[in-house]
Amino acid sequence: MRRSVLVTLLLTLCAGAAYAEHVTAPIPVGIAVAQTSNVALFGQEQIIGAKIAEKYFNKSGVNGTPIKLVSQDTGGDEAGAINAFQNLINQEKVVGIVGPTLSQQAFSADPIANRLKVPVVGPSNTAKGIPQIGEYIGRVSAPVAKVAPFALKQALKQNPKIKKVAVLYAQNDAFSASETVTFQETVKSMKLEIVTLQKFMTTDTDFTTQATAVLGANVDLAIVSGLAADGGNLVKQLRQLGYKGIIIGGNGFNTANLFPVCGKNCDGILVAQAYSPEANNPVNKAFVDEYRRTYKKDPSQFSAQAFAAVQVFGEGLRRVEAATKKKITQLELSVVRTELNKALRSGSFVTPLGEISLDNEGEINQKTFYVSQIKMDANGKSGKFVIVK
Ligand code: ALA
Repeated sequence: MRRSVLVTLLLTLCAGAAYAEHVTAPIPVGIAVAQTSNVALFGQEQIIGAKIAEKYFNKSGVNGTPIKLVSQDTGGDEAGAINAFQNLINQEKVVGIVGPTLSQQAFSADPIANRLKVPVVGPSNTAKGIPQIGEYIGRVSAPVAKVAPFALKQALKQNPKIKKVAVLYAQNDAFSASETVTFQETVKSMKLEIVTLQKFMTTDTDFTTQATAVLGANVDLAIVSGLAADGGNLVKQLRQLGYKGIIIGGNGFNTANLFPVCGKNCDGILVAQAYSPEANNPVNKAFVDEYRRTYKKDPSQFSAQAFAAVQVFGEGLRRVEAATKKKITQLELSVVRTELNKALRSGSFVTPLGEISLDNEGEINQKTFYVSQIKMDANGKSGKFVIVK
């Protein structure tokens, strides 16, 4: 055989082998969330929830085969999320990705996974339009339109005299810009008046201008859509300047990592939630017990949603084995990714968020939502979300 023919043959064989790449045990599931930057206030809780889910799921695994979380830090921006996604998909050969933390990052990174037919489950992306990014994109984080209005109803219950409202939002963040639309529409539908609308940036640290405007407008309610660092600082400065009315925080306030940011000034903030530690099902009980054992406090929404995201991947993989009658490790990676994406959209999952399912588009169906009020401890540093009825 001529040498060039031999080389061609070898190259063809190698290409064939790469094409027919199989999944190896333990089954790699990617997690791309923010472990650095301000966004890590969410991401750290996500990693904790995801790891508890990995341990819990691996008690029996995918019919005996364990999953393995492969984590890649996204930082807080779009470029970091894109890098993390590419690395998990191309180097780590994950079957799917839990992430990214922000909707702002998802709009950039998710299209890459979608093009490569890698299923993504957003653990915290709540902006409008996330599942519509593509066929392979889903989420277990209920969208703002479903969750945010509950906080307003609770505010009116606490003070039926509310008339004037201030609305504030981070204009450079996709989720905050989406959430504020829901808040503003709900305010109007309740026949309340938005007397001041203030914008800020997630990178801001000085909110004197916005706080002064809110005080000048003499409102009974201030609604803030931002991330934990900027939102928390804004609340702190608003209170320090003397604002006494009710404050609603959006989904960026759903983390206990907010507490050290606004300190005692976090006290009383109302936050709608897609999770309650009190949810009564065996998976949530196991999750809460494990979390409490390690951290001596209750988990918050970001941890619970990350748990749910890992769980649906694990249970989805079991469904793939049931549907194909093959072990995951006998299947090609590309087949597992495609079948897994279908499995995620077929049937429900009992998670710490309650019973959930993903519709054909990848949007979560979730039945129960809650509103909590932040209660800070006397030390002004720690506190908890108290579910209000
Ligand atoms: N819920 C926030 C977002 O979607 C974290 O960006």
